[in-house]
Amino acid sequence: LWLAVGIRRRQPGEPAVENGFIPYLGCALQFGANPLQFLRSRQKKYGHIFTCKIAGKYIHFLCDPFSYHSVIRQGRHLDWRKFHFATSVKAFGHDSFDPRHGHTTENLHQTFLKTLQGEALPSLIETMMGHLQDVMLRSGKLSPGKDHWEVDGIFAFCYKVMFESGYLTLFGKELGEDKCQAQQAAQKALVLNALENFKEFDKIFPALVAGLPIHVFKSAHSARENLAKTMHAEKLSKRENMSDLISMRMILNDSLSTFNDVSKARTHVALLWASQANTLPATFWSLFYMIRSPEAMKGARQELQKILEDSGLTVDPSDPTLNLTRDQLDNMPVLDSIIKEAMRLSSASMNVRVAKEDFLLHMDNNEAYRIRKDDVIALYPPMLHYDPEIFEDPYEYKFDRFLDDKGREKSTFYRSGRRLRYFNMPFGSGVTKCPGRFFAMYEIKQFLTLVLCYFEMELLDPAIKAPPLDQSRAGLGILQPTYDVDFKYKLKSNY
Ligand code: HEM
Repeated sequence: LWLAVGIRRRQPGEPAVENGFIPYLGCALQFGANPLQFLRSRQKKYGHIFTCKIAGKYIHFLCDPFSYHSVIRQGRHLDWRKFHFATSVKAFGHDSFDPRHGHTTENLHQTFLKTLQGEALPSLIETMMGHLQDVMLRSGKLSPGKDHWEVDGIFAFCYKVMFESGYLTLFGKELGEDKCQAQQAAQKALVLNALENFKEFDKIFPALVAGLPIHVFKSAHSARENLAKTMHAEKLSKRENMSDLISMRMILNDSLSTFNDVSKARTHVALLWASQANTLPATFWSLFYMIRSPEAMKGARQELQKILEDSGLTVDPSDPTLNLTRDQLDNMPVLDSIIKEAMRLSSASMNVRVAKEDFLLHMDNNEAYRIRKDDVIALYPPMLHYDPEIFEDPYEYKFDRFLDDKGREKSTFYRSGRRLRYFNMPFGSGVTKCPGRFFAMYEIKQFLTLVLCYFEMELLDPAIKAPPLDQSRAGLGILQPTYDVDFKYKLKSNY
């Protein structure tokens, strides 16, 4: 009978199992309503590891941070590709990147490391800084004056500025500066359409990951395909100043894969999504918490002032060509902490691996649990991020939480008197750790630097509470706010 209704019975040596009340869905609804609360209550009941049936899959949740290493170090029993590649295919509709499926021999991981890290960073940073200043001050999109306040939602503002700048940094510009007005208007329309299509598609992303087919969502489906149409090779080849990431991926798509043109274009849509979907809400939370905290604003301004003075840089909104080197950006521990703390409070990415075979998972306390082939093992970092033993008053935003008493980056955090190896995981872990994480931190820092340099900013309601997190995206990365928060900004009158 157990087998007939698809219910698992705990075998000796396995973690405690909870099948939930609803066939197939299992505990999905309780988990989805409030993942952190759900996992905490199960942890209390069962201990550091337990198994829940969620949407037909048996997921082992590992809750002991000292045992994370067994999963993160990626032993021979665990597979990350199965889950990640399958998720990307479900959401973006391209052919599989899994080399075992025979559509491509590209090593995506290598492509990402080469084009998003190390030597690739200075040019990404420089291009991004130029686009950010263009959008903020030259494009006429924001039109801030010296004498009047402009009112906008913080999320709307971040979306406008970061989407366009990030999009142009990766995919290049169709036209040069000196092109005629009609062509410039076409370029503007292209970015605007991309933004609208991205929003429309992003709304249903959680449903696609959950396994619903995209044609159920007509407008999101056409939004995704519209984005793909702009990313066919013949369109991309007309752009200039494209990132190495996209130009290298175009070459590898052509030389190592059997993807057709539509599939190739959809792989670029996947990268657009990866580069924006977390960055946009992370920028929102960083700006929101920074503006709301007078001490954070003061600390950030002082840090910036010193960098500008030391390097003799001047800020001039009529000639917005400020540039900060990678070293200068690396030397901003206050902004770093402001961003990390904002992400600690808003990130909810699930770290997932699949068991390749039956095996024993060893815990830090020397216990071992039997895991069955094809079961999923998951880490849910908010369990750490909201742990009061690790972060005092975990629901409070403290801009200097990641600073030590000398004002440098703090990286020692403890639980039960033991130093933690993993305490802040907005970018995932191990082999699947976000390859764009360095660029992501730089671009948010650049954004905050520029708004601090050029604008006065105030919340319309200085005492406003942080908006609740939209839990419908729990598991997928940085959560969005359930509603936007208004602020006002104007050009600074002295520099
Ligand atoms: C994957 C977080 C920005 C490129 C991921 C993953 C997370 C993440 C949690 C999945 C890790 C896993 O599955 O275990 C973030 C956050 C960002 C951010 C919080 C911003 C605050 C970016 C940017 C880029 C980028 C700016 C590129 C320009 C990617 C790519 C992957 C990825 C390509 C897939 C890697 C793979 O499957 O091998 N990111 N990311 N991310 N991210 Fe990011």
